[in-house]
Amino acid sequence: MKVLLFADPGIDDSLAIIYALLHPEIELKGIVTGYGNVSVFDATRNASYLLALAGRTDIPVIRGTSQPLSGMHTIFYPEIHGPEGLGPIIPPEDFKADIYPFELMFEIIEKDKEDIIIVDVGRQTTLAFAYNLRPELMEKVKEIYLMGGAFMVPGNVTDIAEANFWGDPIATSVILNKAKKIYITPLNVTNRAIVTRDIAKFIFNHTSSPYKYLIPAVTDYYAAFYDQVMPGIDGSPVHDVFTLYYLMNKEKAYTIKRDVRIAIVDGSRGQSIADLRMIYKEPEHEHYIVMDFDYNDFIADFIRVNLGAD
Ligand code: RIB
Ligand code: CA
Repeated sequence: MKVLLFADPGIDDSLAIIYALLHPEIELKGIVTGYGNVSVFDATRNASYLLALAGRTDIPVIRGTSQPLSGMHTIFYPEIHGPEGLGPIIPPEDFKADIYPFELMFEIIEKDKEDIIIVDVGRQTTLAFAYNLRPELMEKVKEIYLMGGAFMVPGNVTDIAEANFWGDPIATSVILNKAKKIYITPLNVTNRAIVTRDIAKFIFNHTSSPYKYLIPAVTDYYAAFYDQVMPGIDGSPVHDVFTLYYLMNKEKAYTIKRDVRIAIVDGSRGQSIADLRMIYKEPEHEHYIVMDFDYNDFIADFIRVNLGAD
């Protein structure tokens, strides 16, 4: 599976990058970074650093957007993701990220336009820009996967909104209207995709991957935040990893087709809305929402991929 990943690493984004790199059936064609959990500069350096740790600097990192389309002030989350986005890990001061030109993003899509899959696990501003700049190319992309939204469950950044959809609702709305086919993994499922401290420890004890030390370090850091907001889970949801797991295991999850829209105005900003009545309006768009999954299968897959086992 050829994947172009948009991300804002960020702890769970980092675990998603690692998952993509270690998954035997994912061919990671590039990482497009953006602001979100941290600034676009930290996100870019973190993505580059993660690739360097595994000697995979052949995968290009492209720096995306630094703020939402509205130009509104951007909030970062060092209290959740650490001062620079990798929890307690700070890349060495002399580490230099290799950044590729923005145009390369289109070249990557163009080259594999029939089968490239776009997965966006950050604010969707850069992806919306892509639809704006190259609509004729982007309409050929067959599937987009978005981590975002919360359907009739509480949000995380506000009581009703999930962070990625709240971050730039105008961008999300552009994508919802323009993309051919979209799969959404909302908080309904990602909040339950929990990696516990014990699982991270287990991976540490059994892997020789270049991320051996990083996995428990970032998991413990992320879990300390979740101890406050979701007490008792003894770990943390890995929202962004779940989106890639879903891409690779779609048939194992429960997905529904509904038109999705997003609130843009203050007061309800970022709220994701779909017709979830028993008798619902026939959808006009190819929007799919993931509503349920098998946790045991997810966590077994997460462990297997991180141990480097087939
Ligand atoms: O709401 C969860 C999302 O917000 C994830 O993508 C996480 O990385 C944060 O950005
Ligand atoms: Ca993210």
